[in-house]
Amino acid sequence: MNYHIEEMISEEALENRISELASQINIDYAGKQLHLVIILKGSVFFASALARKLTVPVTMDFMAVTSYGDGMVSAGEITVKKELDEEITDKDVLIVEDIVDSGRTLYYLKRLLLARNPASLKIVTLLDKPECRTMDIKTDYCGFEIPDKFVVGYGLDYAQRHRNLSYVGAVIQD
Ligand code: IMP
Ligand code: MG
Repeated sequence: MNYHIEEMISEEALENRISELASQINIDYAGKQLHLVIILKGSVFFASALARKLTVPVTMDFMAVTSYGDGMVSAGEITVKKELDEEITDKDVLIVEDIVDSGRTLYYLKRLLLARNPASLKIVTLLDKPECRTMDIKTDYCGFEIPDKFVVGYGLDYAQRHRNLSYVGAVIQD
């Protein structure tokens, strides 16, 4: 497929919004120790930008999961490709996600992590496509709501490419 990428959210807009999210998180977690659960690979750029703006004490762990689409044998479930290194029991956990689409990944991830009895569990996502939601899942902090378009950059990929773009852009078929 021939395509080009059209800028949707500039680097400056991303940085400004991430600062706002961090300010809110700093207020909400004042006096607490925040444990970031960063979902590989797409969330890494967002997580590192966000974490650098946090002033509350932060620890970080990483997890990789894949969700199956409709029609596959394990429909609805997620597979853990890389487990967390540390226990989350009694920790104030914030899941850091790049984008919420159907909500399937977060729906099952939240259930999985809640079963480990964290002190609290919240979700921050950089991007949300609310029109695409099929599962009942709400985020606690969201950077930008975007229309139903396939986007790349700032960690997000198309066939593993374009993660390193400094902005978020829509993939447009030529
Ligand atoms: P969900 O389980 O349908 O919410 O899917 C979320 C996952 O699908 C995200 O964590 C991304 O990895 C991927 N994804 C969804 N929409 C996009 C997109 O527009 N660009 C790149 N990846 C996406
Ligand atoms: Mg993802």
